[in-house]
Amino acid sequence: MKHLPVVVGIDGSPAADVAIKWGTQEAAALRSPLHLVYALAPGSAPAQAGEVVYKAVAQARGLMPGIVIDSRIESGSPSAALVKASGSAAVVVIGSRGLGVMIGALVGATGLDLAANARCPVVVVRPDLGSMAGVRVVIGYDGSPASDTALDFGLEHARRHDLAVRVIAAEPAGTALHRISENELREAVHARGGHDAELVHITGHPAEHILRLSSDAALIVLGARGRGGFAGMLIGSVSQTVLHHADCPVAIIPAAAAGG
Ligand SMILES: Nc1ncnc2c1ncn2[C@@H]1O[C@H](COP(=O)(O)OP(=O)(O)OP(=O)(O)O)[C@@H](O)[C@H]1O
Ligand SMILES: [Mg+2]
Repeated sequence: MKHLPVVVGIDGSPAADVAIKWGTQEAAALRSPLHLVYALAPGSAPAQAGEVVYKAVAQARGLMPGIVIDSRIESGSPSAALVKASGSAAVVVIGSRGLGVMIGALVGATGLDLAANARCPVVVVRPDLGSMAGVRVVIGYDGSPASDTALDFGLEHARRHDLAVRVIAAEPAGTALHRISENELREAVHARGGHDAELVHITGHPAEHILRLSSDAALIVLGARGRGGFAGMLIGSVSQTVLHHADCPVAIIPAAAAGG
């Protein structure tokens, strides 16, 4: 079987450097090619884009000399270019902020747009991520289709990287609407072979608990949407809050990547 590429969105920013590092390691772990995509906004200088791509390829080669690397400069917005690339990718990796195109104190428009519309999981990394020393994958589970796919993705990632797993189902206080029973949580995790996973069934705000219980996480995995949701929002409030405040990379499973 041909392995789908790990796609990394690059723009020459410090966060993109971290995205290249994460994506290169993941490509090696998956035995997948690495595909670097630079989106060139109308009116910006192609020479500079060439240099960004050249440096990115050199950085990835320096990290993992054995992997297959392919790069492309696309015209248009980063989210459009990356949504397109996500149609045939194992995962798309981006920095939480960038130079110009992904600018902003928190996760920029590119990240949110991509997390909502990509066709495969999206990993958002932070520029200030010094070491990648986390020991576990933390998964937020609310019983929605996207969170089922988050379970699949998170358990698989943990196996491949030999990480512990913590699955959190938080019951917002005072509402039965999003309630997942302890049994449902256990069944969902065990059905996927996650017998060693730590299960946390807890009352309170999901995003707060997920963030609090992720201080030693290597990766947090969530669906872009959950059981609630207003059609008008790009992604749900839990995934948006966690994306903005997590200290570690966050993988978001868009609706189109949540099997069916
Ligand atoms: N109660 C919860 N416990 C654990 N994880 C959750 C919980 N609610 C949501 N999540 C995680 O966050 C992801 C996104 O759900 P979120 O709640 O943000 O979207 P939504 O339900 O569509 O919108 P909203 O809740 O803001 O109306 C889910 O797929 C799941 O991974
Ligand atoms: Mg919800």
